[in-house]
Amino acid sequence: MRQSLVVGNWKMNGSIEANRSLIEGIKQNITSVKNSEMAVCPPFVYLHQIRELLKDTSISWGSQNVSQRDSGAFTGEIAISMLVDFGCKYVIVGHSERRSLYGESDELVAEKFAKVQSAGLIPILCVGELLEEREAGNTETVVKRQLDAVLNLQGIASLEKSVIAYEPVWAIGTGKTATPQQAQDVHAFIRGQISALDAEVANKVQILYGGSVNGSNAKELFTMSDIDGGLIGGASLKAEDFLAIGQAG
Ligand code: 13P
Repeated sequence: MRQSLVVGNWKMNGSIEANRSLIEGIKQNITSVKNSEMAVCPPFVYLHQIRELLKDTSISWGSQNVSQRDSGAFTGEIAISMLVDFGCKYVIVGHSERRSLYGESDELVAEKFAKVQSAGLIPILCVGELLEEREAGNTETVVKRQLDAVLNLQGIASLEKSVIAYEPVWAIGTGKTATPQQAQDVHAFIRGQISALDAEVANKVQILYGGSVNGSNAKELFTMSDIDGGLIGGASLKAEDFLAIGQAG
């Protein structure tokens, strides 16, 4: 049985006060979440605050991005060693907003994935197709290309210590969730690709779904056999919604 995992991707949202109240709200009712590991990924500047708020709880934290480089003259970048310093467990790599708005290529995402693993943290590798790619029947080709970039650089064994998040771009922030069956089909495809190389790794790797998940649709999605939890944007900013999603795991 794979452990359910629910990760909040706060994106560029939050403030010291809003974070405090959100985390307090989550902590207050965290015992209502029985079967999911819960994690939050705030903006970098709040990692210190979040670490303080979450120490001695069962809730994990991580970051939304990382540099592929170790240190040096890279203005505005954040190194993996800094994320280790702040106790991060997870690092999201290849979110579609990074790919589309900041030009991150499959190869760069694979380098970041490698960097995260080299420091002993767990990469959450995001994959997913654009609406026009889905409509052209290219969903599997796109997802396979994104996955292969990591496999080519890091090999199949690397996936055992990683999480994959399938996030169809057309479902992100649109209120238009993939149907449970649409999501399950792609998750099964991803697991099948991995299984063709190593059945044991395929059986272990958590594959999360992301894209307009909320407290009302999470259960339906998470009961699908290849969906092991969610990567949550908007609904992770409200304690009640985030907890309801955790309870669905
Ligand atoms: P929404 O849940 O707001 O659609 O965002 C999903 C997402 O991009 C999580 O990484």
